[in-house]
Amino acid sequence: MPQLKTKVIHGAVSTDQVTGSVVTPIYQTSTFLQNGLGSPKEYEYTRLGNPTRHALEALIAELEGGVRGFAFASGMAGIHAVLSLFKPGDHLILADDIYGGTFRLVDEILSKSGLTYDLVDFSDLSVLTEKFKPETVAVYFESPSNPLLKIHDIAQIVALAKSHGALTVVDNTFATPYFQRPLELGADIVLHSGTKYLGGHSDVISGLVTTNSEKLADHIGFLQNSIGSVLGPNDSWLVLRGIKTLALRMEAHAANAKKLALFLDASPYVSKVYFPGLKQDPGHELAKKQMDGFGGMISFELADESKVKPFVESLKYILLAESLGGVESLIEVPSVMTHASVPKALREKAGIKDSLIRLSVGIEDATDLIADLSAAFEKVNA
Ligand SMILES: Cc1ncc(COP(=O)(O)O)c(C=O)c1O
Repeated sequence: MPQLKTKVIHGAVSTDQVTGSVVTPIYQTSTFLQNGLGSPKEYEYTRLGNPTRHALEALIAELEGGVRGFAFASGMAGIHAVLSLFKPGDHLILADDIYGGTFRLVDEILSKSGLTYDLVDFSDLSVLTEKFKPETVAVYFESPSNPLLKIHDIAQIVALAKSHGALTVVDNTFATPYFQRPLELGADIVLHSGTKYLGGHSDVISGLVTTNSEKLADHIGFLQNSIGSVLGPNDSWLVLRGIKTLALRMEAHAANAKKLALFLDASPYVSKVYFPGLKQDPGHELAKKQMDGFGGMISFELADESKVKPFVESLKYILLAESLGGVESLIEVPSVMTHASVPKALREKAGIKDSLIRLSVGIEDATDLIADLSAAFEKVNA
């Protein structure tokens, strides 16, 4: 069985079956010539299937240990397709610090068609246990979570969900299969915003989904084609190319994040650092157990909330922008950016304060990044 570092290069469909091209070609076509009436070929119409997209779909399944993969036009499109598995009256248990857009999709759109939900802090399994109802069909969470980088015990949550006949859906965007494979821990569906570390270069929006159940795969495949929010061949190719360097990039992100987290932890201007790689972090031991690395994301709170705006606006290399997982470092303020769609009261209940800053550590030289943070702290506190 090849290692993940080999799979990202040679996994799934790595060479073109027709020409032998070592790089998967971009099959920029909407339709395919048929053999004759009533004898369909493997490919008929690109919404249904396209060889470039299929190479990516096979690759994500292989990396995560799924039976089939699915590529969507965005992470949200993938999440929408997965949540479309459920019907009016079904009940979901969502972690209380999931991505704001996921919360908005459930709260403002899917709830209108009869899906119900509870938002729960997944770090307390006794609270989670109490939320199961006969109608509960799935638990849904991220680990590490966005933006508080909480580490949730995937195997224990899976056991709890299974005992209530519910599915476990894990958004593995922050860890990527390089650092964590939830299907191996018993989860039923894994999904990604491929826009982030998988694409890796902040140049494509995409979503990826995989599952280890043939039955769920058939259903998700039906939904992908019926809803139609598929990833185009060009964008599929970009994600495929990004994944080839996933191992190198994730190692570099994680090494830099560790250095920056230690710097922030020692800074008098920072009141709290959220990073599972720090020994004192509540998720540290669990992360060591269920992950192969701590990832490249850090969140932190400034001691003086009034300095948040001038601080994030004073950085030179660390860019003020939404998103994460690209080669460049990005910084954002969840309360007014990525999580602005979560009502303030719910945000605060989940611990997402206005002084919280989220940093996606890039693969630049760590010394330059630390110098950038340091200069901004000095400037705004002068
Ligand atoms: C953890 C997580 N899941 C899903 C999404 C949605 O992905 P996309 O922006 O590709 O639609 C995001 C976006 O930031 C995210 O951070």
